[in-house]
Amino acid sequence: MTELTLVTHSPRETQSLGAVLGRLARPGDVFLLIGPLGAGKTCLTQGLARGLGIHDPVTSPTFTLIREYQGRLPLYHVDCFRLEGTAAALELGLDGYLGGDGLCVVEWADRVMEALPLEHLLVTLTYREGRERVLRLEARGARYAALLSELRRKIPLTKVQVA
Ligand SMILES: Nc1ncnc2c1ncn2[C@@H]1O[C@H](COP(=O)(O)OP(=O)(O)OP(=O)(O)O)[C@@H](O)[C@H]1O
Ligand SMILES: [Mg+2]
Repeated sequence: MTELTLVTHSPRETQSLGAVLGRLARPGDVFLLIGPLGAGKTCLTQGLARGLGIHDPVTSPTFTLIREYQGRLPLYHVDCFRLEGTAAALELGLDGYLGGDGLCVVEWADRVMEALPLEHLLVTLTYREGRERVLRLEARGARYAALLSELRRKIPLTKVQVA
């Protein structure tokens, strides 16, 4: 499966979806999150952390750029909002976190796309009415296609709606 579109109706639902994905994550996975301010990128990451068994509160790393948490796997939470272009991403040492021992989650990935691996799970979040959010998940590479198939099998167990 290479694409899956889901709709959530509350922050809690977005986090539950993240938690399911977090449980499926493997070392070296890269999830790229794209969407406007307040779309729910950090909210989804909070769920991912929960799925990795991380209990520390996950906050927006906007001012620190990268935050690291230890769970079943390490979570590297990156926010590129303040970065301009690929050179800035390389300077930050983003390379060292990608494809390593943990799950790397990058908010505002579209700002530094050229510095990021070609194979990844791309999550595009958009607003709908009220608290509805549409999350479009696209697998770039075989690993992520397998991940999406696994996720699809688990979705009936969650409250998240398939659009
Ligand atoms: N269905 C939903 N999913 C996620 N967040 C939601 C939803 N409905 C409402 N919200 C609210 O939207 C906001 C999402 O904020 P969040 O920090 O996750 O966005 P973000 O995409 O990380 O923004 P930024 O670009 O500023 O980092 C929160 O205030 C959350 O409570
Ligand atoms: Mg954020």
